[in-house]
Amino acid sequence: MRNIVLLISGGGSNMAAIVAAAQREDWPATLGARIAGVISNRADAGGLKLAHEAGLPTATIDHLSYAKREDFDSALSQQIAQWDVGSTSPALVLLAGFMRIVSPDFVALHKGRLLNIHPSLLPAFPGLHTHQRAIDAGCRFAGATVHEVTAELDHGPIWGQAVVPVLPGDSADTLAARVLTQEHVLYPRVVKAFLRQPFC
Ligand code: GRF
Repeated sequence: MRNIVLLISGGGSNMAAIVAAAQREDWPATLGARIAGVISNRADAGGLKLAHEAGLPTATIDHLSYAKREDFDSALSQQIAQWDVGSTSPALVLLAGFMRIVSPDFVALHKGRLLNIHPSLLPAFPGLHTHQRAIDAGCRFAGATVHEVTAELDHGPIWGQAVVPVLPGDSADTLAARVLTQEHVLYPRVVKAFLRQPFC
């Protein structure tokens, strides 16, 4: 059974969408994959409550407790490994609204098994404030991207994108809400495609 570990920082709606798809579509039976746990770097992340309600193991690893990014990332990897004991293949790690930049060592350790969702049509608008930047640039379309994580922030091979229109009068909030509904469709779809490839 392939483990999936989700890393979150906030509301966890993408995590919840993946968990719901896994339950609805019986991923253990259909894909040989199960959600092994959810890690948050914030104790107050709303997504932790959703994970509890879904009956999933959770862990809070507060980045503020670590002097160095590498030490925080090691703690993340230790928790992932703990959930992976007895598994024949290493876990797929999904960043889902995880608001920390991971270190090159973390990327190397989970290479080829590490995905992120970013709320823009990469390579446009890596980084923060993507929706306001899309509006300010006069974009007619915006969206979200699921990509493999590499050492360079918001780069890496693109696995899927969802596109929405930017409507007249949009604020960053209205555009973000429109994009988010599509993220919830996109991310589970890409995870399934990712798990279906041989030797991932
Ligand atoms: C999403 O828009 C995601 O793309 C971005 O942060 C938001 C997180 O939402 N990185 P949630 O925590 O999944 O609800």
